[in-house]
Amino acid sequence: MIVCSCQQVSDFDIELALLDILNQPEAPIPTPGVVYRYMQRRMQCCGCAPLAVDVIYAKLEDLDARGLICDA
Ligand code: FES
Repeated sequence: MIVCSCQQVSDFDIELALLDILNQPEAPIPTPGVVYRYMQRRMQCCGCAPLAVDVIYAKLEDLDARGLICDA
């Protein structure tokens, strides 16, 4: 599913970025800004921001349920 049409970001791109970000020591809170910066993308119109937040939360729950990210 495409989350951001301006930067061609999919939900899978976000999932991969979250895996990398959250498995770093002292991982930052994965805000859309943190996630997009990690992917070397920058929001343009910001129309995707609400959806990006929803996708990040959903992916966090899914990755946690699958034991792929640390609870801390
Ligand atoms: S849709 Fe994501 S910045 Fe425009």
